[in-house]
This record gives sequence, C-alpha cells and structure tokens, in this order.
Amino acid sequence: MPDENLISRRGLFTKIGVLFNGLVAVAIAVPIVRFLLSSITRGRGNAYLSWVPLGRTSEFPEGETRLATFRNPYVMPTDGKTVDTACWVRRIEGDQFQVFAINCAHLGCPVRWFAQSGLFMCPCHGGAYYRDGSRASGPPERGLFEYPHKVENGLITIQAGELFTPGASAALIGKNPPCAG
Ligand code: FES
Repeated sequence: MPDENLISRRGLFTKIGVLFNGLVAVAIAVPIVRFLLSSITRGRGNAYLSWVPLGRTSEFPEGETRLATFRNPYVMPTDGKTVDTACWVRRIEGDQFQVFAINCAHLGCPVRWFAQSGLFMCPCHGGAYYRDGSRASGPPERGLFEYPHKVENGLITIQAGELFTPGASAALIGKNPPCAG
C-alpha cells in the first residue's frame, strides 16, 4: 500500500516547474514595473526644472566664449561620464551671459566655436552661427538653443534638464531664443 505522505515524481516536477515559472515571471516583471514607476520613485519628475551649476563667473572672461560641462540632472547610477554634457558659455560683460547648447539646431551635431572668425561652425553640413547664437548660414532654420541661466553670488547656473527640439516650449529654451531671420 503506497504511503500517502510520499510525493509522486510527477507531483514533484510539477511543483518545481511552477516554482521556476514563478521566478521567471518575477524576474521579468520587476524591471518592467520599476521602469513604469521610475519617474516617481527616483524623484526625477521635476528634474528638468532644477538649476545646475556651471562654474564661477570668474572662470569666464568678458568678451569670450568658452566650453563648459555640467552634470545632466537626469543622472542614474549606471550613467558614468555620459551625464557630463558640454555647452558654450559666452560672457558678454559683467553678469550678462549666454549659454548655448552644443548641439546644432539642424540635426544635433556638436558645434565648435572659432574665436578668430567669431562663428560657431557645425562640422556635419556646414551650418554656421554668429557669436550671439543667431543663424549665420547653412541648413539650420534657427539659431543655437539657449539654456535659461542665472548668476547668483558669483556662480552661474543653468536649467538644463530638457533636451531641445524645435518644438520645445519657449519657457525652457530662453524667453527670446535667437531665431533665423
Ligand atoms: S547638423 Fe549642423 S548643419 Fe546639419
């Protein structure tokens, strides 16, 4: 007579199968749920509105345009150096600054500043911009995008959280973005 407390081989494999499937389901579900809740759980909902330091104003001589970098406010532990984002800082005089996105307003290639000619040049399709960021020539339909910035206690900070697109709200790309024409 079979012992009723003994589990059959079929029953054992069924239980192991259910357990294994459960583990796989959890392993798949956890990253999906974390992704869906990420904007809440990481407190990044308003990260694009945060002010990010660029450096002391004394680091930017009057009348010059210099390259600077900042930490993208959307930083995640695995991002490493990729969150260091470049921008061009133009100090007009005193506390008057312009901070330009490094990306060309055409298709996003990084533009370079040439002090000798007083132009930003894009290496991809020949787009050019004047020192104030306005369009000079080439395929871009507008000037360089500008970060909103402020100067407080000798420190310049920018609002850098939103990636620029031609359709971005004017509030986040500067009140008077330099436009073509
Ligand atoms: S990406 Fe700059 S001109 Fe096309």
